[in-house]
Formats: sequence, structure tokens, C-alpha cells
Amino acid sequence: MKNIIVTGGAGFIGSNFVHYVVKHHPEVHVTVLDKLTYAGNRENLAGLPTDRVKLVVGDIADAQLVNSLVAEADAVVHYAAESHNDNSLQDPSPFIQTNLVGTFTLLEACRLKGVRFHHVSTDEVYGDLPLREDLPGHGEGPGEKFTDHTPYNPSSPYSASKAGSDLLVRAWVRSFGLQATISNCSNNYGPYQHIEKFIPRQITNILSGERPKLYGDGKNVRDWIHTEDHSAAVWLILTKGTIGETYLIGADGEKDNKTVLELILRLMGKDAQDYDHVNDRPGHDLRYAIDATKLKEELGWQPQFTNFEEGLADTIDWYMNNREWWQAEKAAVEAKYAENGQ
Ligand SMILES: NC(=O)c1ccc[n+]([C@@H]2O[C@H](COP(=O)([O-])OP(=O)(O)OC[C@H]3O[C@@H](n4cnc5c(N)ncnc54)[C@H](O)[C@@H]3O)[C@@H](O)[C@H]2O)c1
Repeated sequence: MKNIIVTGGAGFIGSNFVHYVVKHHPEVHVTVLDKLTYAGNRENLAGLPTDRVKLVVGDIADAQLVNSLVAEADAVVHYAAESHNDNSLQDPSPFIQTNLVGTFTLLEACRLKGVRFHHVSTDEVYGDLPLREDLPGHGEGPGEKFTDHTPYNPSSPYSASKAGSDLLVRAWVRSFGLQATISNCSNNYGPYQHIEKFIPRQITNILSGERPKLYGDGKNVRDWIHTEDHSAAVWLILTKGTIGETYLIGADGEKDNKTVLELILRLMGKDAQDYDHVNDRPGHDLRYAIDATKLKEELGWQPQFTNFEEGLADTIDWYMNNREWWQAEKAAVEAKYAENGQ
């Protein structure tokens, strides 16, 4: 695999994947196809060798552009998406256009050119799980975590659009023999994440002298994984995964939002109670938890970032040391939240 296209490679997880490939696979050339929406930033690719990484600014739903790029590629790794649940509640239309029509456009190009496709998706397609204390096996019993057999049950326009895109990929594999795999990963943290998202929002609030904001009672559980562990898993699936299979990616990182926020405050030298409760997100999923046994047993993947506190401290350092990356956008992001009492 010498020439790969990474869609959404100027966004959070996509750019981390590009950095990962450049560092670990010196034979690979990457073409990033990214529309540079509010969530994309060419600075995320700064410092990478220009003879190995090329940025093409364009839309994944532009069939002519996509066909011409795919004709030159060995594989497409598809990260591009509208990715923020709260935005999908305000205006779902770009989610339908990019996540469904965009994915369809890529699938058609890969089908016509016989190119390998990997689809990056989310555990949110499965809906949510009860809290551990409400389950007979306390979250460890059969069916108490997501597996690739869990029925789809998305809650928001974002997760519904991702679920739809997953099903398109499955249909293209079955009907057209597309050489494709899918991964559904839990919540990522790490550098380059847009400040609208939970962890960077809290860190940058504190760095800006504002009080952090917690949705509702903060009992909602997310299964945190460092983005570098996600990148390693995607590379393994791309190169060694079985065509047509879905792999779940998660690092046993379940934590409720209140715990994460209080840890951020503590790591930043603040009083752990120094935050405000704000309006909850409508339809807010309660708990996500991934059973990654298949990925570990079939492909030998293991997460490397097993100490959440250390990974979080590194992430805090990154936002402290890269103020120019986020500062200009901070006021506008908070003003948008304030409109909804959040
Ligand atoms: N953030 C998470 O915790 C998480 C977890 C699991 C899976 N995912 C999935 O990983 C992928 C990346 O998520 P992220 O958090 O990095 O998102 P992000 O919003 O940070 O980045 C998305 C990128 O896609 C680009 N993009 C958007 N629409 C486009 C279009 N029409 N054409 C070309 N480029 C376009 C944006 O410019 C941006 O660079 C998404 O598919 C998301 O569903 C995210």
C-alpha cells in the first residue's frame, strides 16, 4: 500500500492518522482530501514532509474530483464527516450531505476503480447502554458492551447519518464485492481536537479564565481512547483486516463526564468543584462501552495509552502550548453554546 487517500485528514482524528502513517510507514504517500470546513485546519498537517503528504482541498461529494484522485490510489481511508452531535441538532443537512452522499460518492469511485476502502465510524451507531450499576453483570455480562453484533440504534442526526454510511459500505461489499472494512471506535482524545468537543472545551475554558461547563448531572459515560491507539488500530485493519468485517475499537476507558471534568480541573491546579452545570443535550446518550476482543484476538491490537491521567495531562499540555491554534475561535464557539444555555 504505497499511495493512500485520507479523507478528512485535516481534522482531529484524520490528521493524527496522517502523522501516525508518516512516522511509522516511511514507504507510504498520503493524499489528504479535505474540504477545510470549520473543523478542518491545514495547520494540523504543518511540519509533515511535503514530498509524502499532499493536501487537496475539496469535497468528498464531488464525484469528478474523487474519481480522479481514487484512480491514482491504492486505498482510501475515510475519516471526513460532520462530526459534532450538537451541531446535528441545530442543522442536520450537512450531516446528510457529507456523511451519506459523500460516503456514497467515495464508494462508487472505489467500486469503479477496484480500490480498497476503509470506513471510519463511531460506536454511537449502536445507541447507548444502561449505566453499569443498572446491569445484572455490572457492565461485564454478555451483551453489556457493544460488539459488532449489537443492533444499530442511533439517537441523533449525527449518529444516524454515520449508521447509514456504515450500511452503505456493507451493501457495497455484498452487492458489488467492494474490498472494504469498517471500524467503530469510541470517544477519542488527544491533540488537534476542535474546541467544541467536551475535553478541549473544558481545558480551553480553564485556560481562558472561564468556568468549565458540565451537561446535566455529568453521569453520562464515554469510553475514552487516545487517538494514537485509534490510528494504530485503523492501520492494522487496513492492512490485515478481513474484507467485509467490522471491527470495534476501544481501550476499556469508561469514565463519566463529571469524573473527567474534575480530573481536568485537578490536573490544571484548580478546585475540582469549580465548574457550572448547564442544560443537558437533548437525547444525550447515557453510556458507551466497547468490547474490542475481536480486534485484539484476530489482529493482535493492544492499546498503548493505558494511563488516562497521563494521556490527559499530555493533552492539556498540548492546548497550553498551542494557544494560537485555538484562541481566535474560542469566543465564537462559546457564544454558540450560550444560545442553548450550555
Ligand atoms: N471524535 C471522536 O471521538 C470519534 C470517535 C469515533 C469515530 N469518529 C469518526 O472519525 C471521523 C473523524 O472525526 P473527527 O472527530 O476527527 O472529526 P472532525 O470534525 O475533527 O474532522 C472532520 C474533517 O472532515 C472534513 N470534512 C467535513 N466535510 C467534508 C467534506 N464534505 N469533504 C471533505 N472533507 C470534509 C473537515 O474539514 C475536517 O477536517 C468521523 O468520521 C467520525 O465519525 C470520531
